[in-house]
Amino acid sequence: MHLHRHLPLLAILASTALAKSTLTTFEQIQQTLNTYPLAIDFKNGPLFTSVFTQDAFANYTGPLSNLTGIDAVREGLLASVAGLATQHQLGTTLIDIDEDSKEANSTTYFTANLVSVAPETAGSFTVLFGLYRDDLVETKEGWRISRRQLEFMTPNLGNLTLG
Ligand SMILES: *[C@@H]1O[C@H](CO)[C@@H](O)[C@H](O)[C@H]1NC(C)=O
Ligand SMILES: *[C@@H]1O[C@H](CO)[C@@H](O)[C@H](O)[C@H]1NC(C)=O
Ligand SMILES: *[C@@H]1O[C@H](CO)[C@@H](O)[C@H](O)[C@H]1NC(C)=O
Ligand SMILES: *[C@@H]1O[C@H](CO)[C@@H](O)[C@H](O)[C@H]1NC(C)=O
Repeated sequence: MHLHRHLPLLAILASTALAKSTLTTFEQIQQTLNTYPLAIDFKNGPLFTSVFTQDAFANYTGPLSNLTGIDAVREGLLASVAGLATQHQLGTTLIDIDEDSKEANSTTYFTANLVSVAPETAGSFTVLFGLYRDDLVETKEGWRISRRQLEFMTPNLGNLTLG
């Protein structure tokens, strides 16, 4: 799999660097939220630091319910998609910003499509429908998720052993 060849990640990182001067707070937060699918789907470990704070806590439920610290978040999530080609589609997004305290909340719908690329189960797939409830803080590098709680919205579809 060489998915990363198809994506101009450098261009994305460059636009993130420009973000502070050219984008509104709302847009900066949206850029951070939208960077997550690129990190997980392209299995780009370093990009997780553009999404989560160093001390982030994430609860993706089940075996991923207590990911504490950026290393645990990155390693836990990347391990969960090993052997899978994935596409995370974000949808409805509500962002609530407290400009004074440099804090924000957001709720973002996602659809996660997980397709096995392991030879013995190639083509098996599952589709997950849910939402992320995030707390964000503004760091020197920009807005980052400090806390993420995943909630599923429907039963999962497809081969449930993959998700
Ligand atoms: C993770 O989320 C699940 C489902 O909402 C909840 O039952 C569990 O207590 C949470 N775990 C932690 C460590 O927050
Ligand atoms: C979650 O992980 C942290 C750090 O690894 C640990 O201190 C804490 O006890 C864990 N909490 C639960 C509910 O497992
Ligand atoms: C975040 O969420 C809490 C609880 O839902 C809410 O009271 C608060 O106003 C929200 N906004 C910010 C910026 O924290
Ligand atoms: C679902 O996936 C598991 C392992 O990933 C595999 O053993 C099983 O054959 C798959 N089931 C179907 C119906 O594709």
